[in-house]
Amino acid sequence: MKLGVCYYPEHWSENNWETDAKEMHTAGISIVRIAEFAWAKMEPEEGKYTWDWLDRSVDTLASAGHQIVLCTPTAAPPAWMIEAHPDILPVDEDGRRRRFGSRRHYCPNNKTYHEYSKRIAEAMAKRYGNHSAVIGWQIDNEFGCYFARCYCDICTKEFQHWLQRKYASLDELNERWGTIFWSQTYDKWSQIEPYNLTVAEPNPSHVLDYYRFASDSWASYQQIQIDALRESIPSAQFVTHNIIASQTTIDYHDLARDLDFVAWDSYPTGYAEMGSQDIYAPDEQVPAYAHDTGDPLLIGFFHSLTRGLKQAPYWIMEQQTGAINWSLYNTGVRPGALRLWAWQAAASGAEATVFFRWKASRFGLEQHHAGLRNHDGSTDTGYDDLLTIKSERDKLDDFIAQPLQTDIGILLDYSTLWALEMQPHRKDFAYLKHLFVFYRACKALGLEPDIISPQADLSHYKILLAPSAFLADEALAQTLTDFTSQGGNLMLGARSGFKDLHNVVTEEPLPGALRDLAGARVAKWHALPPKVSYSLQSEIADFEPDVTFWAEALEPAAGTRSLANYSTAPFDGLAAITEKTHGNGKVIYCGIYPRLAQAVVLMRHLAASHAIPVLDIPSGLAVFQRGTKLLAMNFTEEPIAFSTKSGEYSISARNFTIITE
Ligand code: GAL
Ligand code: ZN
Repeated sequence: MKLGVCYYPEHWSENNWETDAKEMHTAGISIVRIAEFAWAKMEPEEGKYTWDWLDRSVDTLASAGHQIVLCTPTAAPPAWMIEAHPDILPVDEDGRRRRFGSRRHYCPNNKTYHEYSKRIAEAMAKRYGNHSAVIGWQIDNEFGCYFARCYCDICTKEFQHWLQRKYASLDELNERWGTIFWSQTYDKWSQIEPYNLTVAEPNPSHVLDYYRFASDSWASYQQIQIDALRESIPSAQFVTHNIIASQTTIDYHDLARDLDFVAWDSYPTGYAEMGSQDIYAPDEQVPAYAHDTGDPLLIGFFHSLTRGLKQAPYWIMEQQTGAINWSLYNTGVRPGALRLWAWQAAASGAEATVFFRWKASRFGLEQHHAGLRNHDGSTDTGYDDLLTIKSERDKLDDFIAQPLQTDIGILLDYSTLWALEMQPHRKDFAYLKHLFVFYRACKALGLEPDIISPQADLSHYKILLAPSAFLADEALAQTLTDFTSQGGNLMLGARSGFKDLHNVVTEEPLPGALRDLAGARVAKWHALPPKVSYSLQSEIADFEPDVTFWAEALEPAAGTRSLANYSTAPFDGLAAITEKTHGNGKVIYCGIYPRLAQAVVLMRHLAASHAIPVLDIPSGLAVFQRGTKLLAMNFTEEPIAFSTKSGEYSISARNFTIITE
């Protein structure tokens, strides 16, 4: 695994550059990411480029033996540009034009901005494309951070064009969106505005298309820069973008498509504090140790998601090194945490970990954000970990030399996520939470799933999990039918097949397009409030009988058997979970929203029917398998006992052991 660091030479006196470069090298760093946000320094006046400082910075880093990742600075358009073209500024959901003075202050559909972005990317590519130390490019920074959906007049027009490309006629749009409801029928394309300022809640089909349009806007904007860079850079230089894997406003499958690989930015204590409530089930909490060491499941979920975007290795482009500045408590990071994060990243398929940042900033918004070094240049806690990681590099490379085996795919569809987000029907019926329960069930059994698009290559998976295939069409049904005919086992979760891709409920009996595949009809469905549960009896051993949160009553078709029946009113006698054999594979329809323990038992059942060996992973331990080796990582403050077929182990606190089976 390669180690890198984010560096902002323009934040420091040039006298520091050489020393910094050498000290990075001594600490085991070989990649330095620069030029992010530095547009005003590169182009202080329109068309007047000042490369001398960047030339010297690149050369200084190269002389110290570093490889360089250059960033296009487009997350931070300079003041002169905004003054000349104030319509570059985005408009938020409340209809307010945002101001200059921070970052990400641009609309992705603004044509003037497209031209500026193209010009700076081209100019950088021409200048540095042939520099032997430059290995690749990061476009912009974290698209969609803060907000991903602009509602300006330009976006309104672009949305209308996007709709005209998507629908053959306005009549078709009216039909698909069901605009007859509340007299929303359009008779001119120009009447269709963004949904953001309606009096009551807008039409969900309208909203879904706007979300898709906004997401597409980022992919198209990124493409402008990809094309501009690729015109001048050699093919050996990569082009990537650093996503926020936890963010759900952009369809990352689209964004990833034309990148050489994807990178994500990992801030484990920040997610534990600020993001965990979006992903843990409502009655659960992120574990207490996560506040200064992070939660391996939360981080692991985003590793699986990022790896799944291209079903390929990826990078960590920013790795937290100490206290951050954007959560509530901004806790310090424990010694050992960075080491665990770097090992977990490598074990999950990250080819590089680039630490954020070399030195803490003395000015601007991030003064309270740690780096590997403090403001005065002294080393911080993360730095000590970096030295440990450096000393273990051979051991790490040896561990990841065997390929990562992923037999399980969890389907992630952003349109479905958005549809459930805007109308969850039952509070907390959130798509990511549902996926996360099954992800955790896999990890509890020592299995590493890929989180993938339904359009991904499914051929090498033995098990596919579709926790809620809420939006479904014939194409999805066909893909999943093919998967099972070829011997795969599929789990369809509650609420699958409820709607079509326009966010309109199917006319077919449920689960709609997936009914033949499931071999069962969803006859009734009940949302269950907290403290209410139904009971069931299951033939699957150890399946906890109480159903909470959501219950569907199923009628199995001929040839489909019930794995669990409700045993109490109001669904008594009806099935809760069914199983149908399909070609060489089988399909389970799980009509309940399982708690973790239930999901684990279901996963064990699925794995057993495919003879996939499983382990019993104690809580707090994260286990990764490569060939015959297991990396067992303890993120907690106490030792954890772990037994495998090769013996019994005690993994000490915030430490790991490599076990050979
Ligand atoms: C990231 C961002 C960085 C920095 C960091 C602070 O989201 O890409 O530029 O702001 O957060 O944690
Ligand atoms: Zn806009």
